[in-house]
Order: sequence, then structure tokens, then C-alpha cells
Amino acid sequence: MSLGAIQRLPAAVIASKVMALAQQVDFLVVGAGVAGLRAAVELADHGNVLVVTKESVGESNTHYAQGGIAVAMEGDADVALHLSDTIAAGDGLVYEPAARALVTEGPLRVAELIGWGAHFDEENGKLLRTREGAHSLPRILHADGDATGAEISRSLAAFARAHERIRFSEWTTVTGLVAANGCVVAADLLDREGRHERMNARAVLIAAGGAGQTYSDTTNPAVATGDGIALAAEAGAELADMEFYQFHPTALSLPGAPRFLLSEALRGEGAYLRNDRGERFMERYHPLLELAPRDVVARAITREGMGSGPGTVRVVHLDMRHVKNINLHERFPGISAELARYGLDLQSDLIPVRPAAHYLMGGIRTSLDGRTSLRGLYAAGEAACTGVHGANRLASNSLLEGLVFGARAAQAMLADGLPLVAVDAQELPAARLSADEEEKLEAVIAQLQHAMWIYAGLLREDSTLREGMAAHAACEAGLAQFAHYGRGNRRLAEAHAMSRVAHAILHSALARTESRGAHFRNDYPHRDDAHFQKHSVLKRVEGQDELIVFEAW
Ligand code: SIN
Repeated sequence: MSLGAIQRLPAAVIASKVMALAQQVDFLVVGAGVAGLRAAVELADHGNVLVVTKESVGESNTHYAQGGIAVAMEGDADVALHLSDTIAAGDGLVYEPAARALVTEGPLRVAELIGWGAHFDEENGKLLRTREGAHSLPRILHADGDATGAEISRSLAAFARAHERIRFSEWTTVTGLVAANGCVVAADLLDREGRHERMNARAVLIAAGGAGQTYSDTTNPAVATGDGIALAAEAGAELADMEFYQFHPTALSLPGAPRFLLSEALRGEGAYLRNDRGERFMERYHPLLELAPRDVVARAITREGMGSGPGTVRVVHLDMRHVKNINLHERFPGISAELARYGLDLQSDLIPVRPAAHYLMGGIRTSLDGRTSLRGLYAAGEAACTGVHGANRLASNSLLEGLVFGARAAQAMLADGLPLVAVDAQELPAARLSADEEEKLEAVIAQLQHAMWIYAGLLREDSTLREGMAAHAACEAGLAQFAHYGRGNRRLAEAHAMSRVAHAILHSALARTESRGAHFRNDYPHRDDAHFQKHSVLKRVEGQDELIVFEAW
């Protein structure tokens, strides 16, 4: 681990199986996606920053974002329309001040990013814009056709790496947050050689992204295990809106293949959805057809894809064979290359699709400035819940969210001016799992992921969610056999994180007895504003179980 500007404190404990050092830095950022990197850049003018990430800097949900970044760069009317689209997609639950901050500060943040070296696709010196679901006009910038996240990640990481006060600790897992007198003052880190160390910091930002891996079917990379959300919850921070998991309508659906994302921009450029009878079925579900809000399209595909008997599945396809005005291979080079691996071609083939877990609207509850319910702990990006997306995120608002709220959280961390409190490291057990134990652990994880997909997926009801709770209890029992290892192993830490996130999703989904946005209950199929135009907040109360309260923000 490169320590650069980080100051080394005396080692607290070195035992036979243990290596735990305590060090310090001004600001600790957990996660190297768009929110974490943007925050690091803001913080670095005022102190030393350590960015910790579980794999290499490029490996985040940000990197895999395809379609683009939604931004209104044409003045006040454009901004107002972006605001109303964001609010409409969120199905009555968008926290308006958060959405206003997103759309009004977004243009500045994108312009700044372009100034730092990000290249978006353009023609004759004009930025190209595409359209996606529930946008009233084309406002989505893209890069290299369908690799927008990769370009944002590349440009921000290069800018951050050039800053002498920013250091990166790659392949490092955060295994716990440390509080003193009610304030988060440090985090425990584990590197890939199994070495532990404690990092004291004035302020800690969680920007560790989402938790798609909690579900067996997801567009998210393997690193998206909800670690940051679980760490914050374990330290006592409030979570909010955890029942709202967005399922992307169109992931590749081939047996044995990963659920590769097939960007909504494909529908923005004219793709149709067809059922197994070849019908364009979206007219039965929404006037915006294939460009309806994402939750509507995902549920429509699920319904069209349900077979007549248990276990039978009908195939739904994306169809671009009629799109002749653009060269699809040039416009979508990444998607075309991936499909070619399976012998499929956007121009000439029907592409089998199905929904997959994609983005968590809920997360660590924060103020508009990234402050969590714990002093010293901040959150931004997908790990956070400001209420900006309500019950259903507008397509391509998430990269913008990372830029805007990453910068805001950093400004709050600077404004709060918290002192450094050095807390010595504690003895930590080393955990090397045997091959047999690794296999057992993977089985426990796979069962949870499968149960979440079946019981807490697109269509839920009381009985399925209770089945999910039983599966969660089985997962916890499975994890108990590894209790002697603590969190001394990355995969164990991930398993505990997924389990905690799954529980929060199930608990919140059981409590919301209505349907809204991404949360659809077969037993309560209607939106109930009288009781539930509110955010669910999960609180930890001393000596009690987790408690859910519904709050109007
Ligand atoms: C996509 O390209 O469809 C994903 C965009 C998003 O999740 O906002």
C-alpha cells in the first residue's frame, strides 16, 4: 500500500497471527467511482486524502455505465424540464430540493469534468445527445458510443492521480468503522495479503456504490456487494428507502452468460421490445412505449416473459432490425462486441433480454450535503440516499449524482472541520479460509442471492418477502460457522455486507404495504399516498431490533 503523505503512528498490536498498524490521514474516501473520485479532488486542496478501493481504481459501477450522463446544459428552461422529468420518474417520492441541486449544479460539474479531460461524443464541435426512458427530450451525453462510465472514470482518476495529496490504496477492503464519543474517527482496512491496519481520519466518506450482487441476476460487477451501506449501518447510521431497488429492463438473457447490460440508449435510438409472439407489447402498459419509466418497462417485460406454468419462461427480445438511420456497430461498439461473442448482431438479430438488479435508490440516509446521522461519517453516490431519485431513478441521472453529491459531501467534510482523534489499532484475527470453507461460504452467498431474486425481486408480496426473511436467517446461520474469523477476509466481509443489505431490503419492503416506483407488491398493487408518500428510514435503537419509521421529507 502506497502511503505517500500519510503519517505513520506507533503500531498498537503485533501478535503472532495479527498485524495491525494505526496510521492517519485527513480524509478517508471509501470507493473510487465517480462520487469518491470527485470528492477526493475537492478535498485534496485542503488536506491529505486516501482513496480506498477493493480492486483497481477502474473497477466500479461507474466504469460499467454505458448509456450516458443526463445533464441540462441549455439554460433555465432545460434545467426546469430535467427537474420535472426526474420528479415524474420518481413516482411521488423525489425529495425536490435534492433533485433541484442535481439538475442546477449538474451543468457546472459536467463542464468542469470536460475541463479536466473527459471527452464526450460530438459532431462538428457540438456535443451529441441521446434519449432514454422517461426523458422528455434528448439530453444524455455519451462517450465512445456506449462507454460513458469508463471515460468518466478514466478522466477523473487521471486528474486525481496527478494530485500530490491524493493517494490510492487499491485491493483494500474496509472491514469496519471505528467510533469514539459518537463520532466516526477511523476505519479498519484489510489488504490483499491479509494485513490489517487502522486508518484514523478527520472525516470518512462512504462512496462505495451499490449492492447489485445481493441478487443472483444483476448488471453490476462482482465488487458491488453493498459494503459501504453495511459498514455505515453497522456503525449505527440510518438507512433510507432500501425497498427501492431498480431493475434494469434489458440485460442479456442467455443461459450461462452474465446479465450484460444492454443500454437503455438502444431504445433511445429506436429499439422495440417484442414478446414471443413477435408483438410490440409496450402499448398495453404505457403511452411512452419502450421509453416509459424504467420500473414500468421492467415489470412489463417480466409479465410478458412469464410462462403459462411454473418454471416456464417466454423470451422477450430487443429488436433493432428496422433501425437504418445509424450505424449500430459504430454507435454501440462495446455492446456490439459483447453480443458478437454469442454470435448475435444488433443489426440483424433479435436480442433476448430480461430485467436484472441494477441500481439502489435507497442507501445511507444523508442530508443534501452528504452528512449521515453519525458525526464524522459522510456518504455520496449510489451508497447514499438523499431522496433525489425517489422510488425510481430517471435513466442516466446516476453519474450526474456522483459528480454533484460527491462535491457537496466533500464541501461538508471541509466545512465541519472535525479534529483528528487517534485510536489505536486492536488485535485482529487473520483469516485464511480452506478451499472447503471457501466453497461453503460461496454456497451460503449463492443461496441468499437466489432467494433475493425470487422473493424480493420485481414482483413481491407478504408471503414471498417472509420467505426471503427465512432465507436471510439461513444465511446468517451459515455465516455463523465463520464467526471465529471475524471480518478478516474480503469475501467474508462481503458476505456479511450482502446479508445486512438483504435484510434491510426485505424489512423495508415488508413495511411498505403499497406499490410505488420500483417496489411492486402483488398484494398491494396501488400507490397509497395517504399513508406512504414518505421515505422509509431504518434506525438502530439501543437494545432493540432495527426499527422502521416512515418520514415525509
Ligand atoms: C443504461 O445505459 O441503460 C444505464 C443507464 C443508467 O442506469 O442510468
